[in-house]
Amino acid sequence: MNWDDTTDGPAAEGLGGPAAERLVGSVADREDQAVEAALRPKDLGEFIGQEKVREQLDLVLRAARARGATADHVLLSGAPGLGKTTLSMIIAAEMNAPIRITSGPAIQHAGDLAAILSSLQEGEVLFLDEIHRMSRPAEEMLYMAMEDFRVDVIVGKGPGATAIPLELPPFTLVGATTRAGLLPPPLRDRFGFTAHMEFYEPTELERVIHRSAHLLDVEIDTEGAAEIAGRSRGTPRIANRLLRRVRDYAQVKADGRITRDIASAALKVYEVDARGLDRLDRAVLEALLKLFGGGPVGLSTLAVAVGEERETVEEVAEPFLVREGLLARTPRGRVATPAAWAHLGLTPPRSQAAGNGQGDLFGA
Ligand SMILES: Nc1ncnc2c1ncn2[C@@H]1O[C@H](COP(=O)(O)OP(=O)(O)OP(=O)(O)O)[C@@H](O)[C@H]1O
Ligand SMILES: [Mg+2]
Repeated sequence: MNWDDTTDGPAAEGLGGPAAERLVGSVADREDQAVEAALRPKDLGEFIGQEKVREQLDLVLRAARARGATADHVLLSGAPGLGKTTLSMIIAAEMNAPIRITSGPAIQHAGDLAAILSSLQEGEVLFLDEIHRMSRPAEEMLYMAMEDFRVDVIVGKGPGATAIPLELPPFTLVGATTRAGLLPPPLRDRFGFTAHMEFYEPTELERVIHRSAHLLDVEIDTEGAAEIAGRSRGTPRIANRLLRRVRDYAQVKADGRITRDIASAALKVYEVDARGLDRLDRAVLEALLKLFGGGPVGLSTLAVAVGEERETVEEVAEPFLVREGLLARTPRGRVATPAAWAHLGLTPPRSQAAGNGQGDLFGA
């Protein structure tokens, strides 16, 4: 397994964004993706946690089934790894419908979208991942397709161009985004149901881990699962990934059984700390504290300092750091909280300790 950064990430067409497949500053390899697919719950009953979303979605789908109709368009928003792709597949399975998978970055021209839409079967689920990254003209075509199940295909160029209306079969659009705030309101409003996915509670992640361990044929005790869950940053994808790394360790260094001691020794090797911060999280915090005196510093500067994409820092590291109360996003930039200094065992410069938020580059 390669834990170093590679540029050979999942193709733009693939599921998830550039930020989607990482842990401990690495890009997931194909094996990772295959295992991930194998661990996906197949129906709503198997889907753990997200009680509200599950209950609401269950109603939406049941009602549509009872009417013999195509389900309303669904927007899934939430941080990477919380189960958006999984839920989209569940929606198709529950509706007994085929699913077509594409993503915003793959649709750069309205024509790309027209080609997909016009080949949909009746009732098909169209999963549009990273919907916030679609081009403007495609987005406008989508408005009409969602509302009227119709698109205008433009033939020709300039004054001679004509719009040929094309009827579409009813379909269900499932859009996924890590950034619901970036969606233009006209697009957001065209979804009949919006589900916001929350981070998972540790007890829910324990269930995810037990389920996955069972599927992977790994023996794990309650405390071992709790240890991994506590460091999984509220995210099932991370829980599953940590489980697999701990399994490796248990196989090589012990009898294969995962206990609390094995889990904590393994996660030490993989640089996942007791609070679940991985190498990227710590790199961000360290840069913020050591290079910028705790901030405020702009996101782009911070990203350059840790050698990462802006999006990676913003979508992968920050939501967790903010949620943990280690970092704050302010209009003037990113600022470390006193808890961040404490977590890294550093002393804030006097100006920070005094609470005026002005970064003092040279410390106290
Ligand atoms: N509620 C859940 N119960 C059990 N496993 C889950 C659940 N949600 C997600 N998972 C697991 O986590 C993994 C990641 O989920 P998924 O790919 O659906 O996330 P995502 O929200 O689409 O992420 P991204 O934004 O990166 O595309 C899946 O392999 C799945 O096994
Ligand atoms: Mg996904």
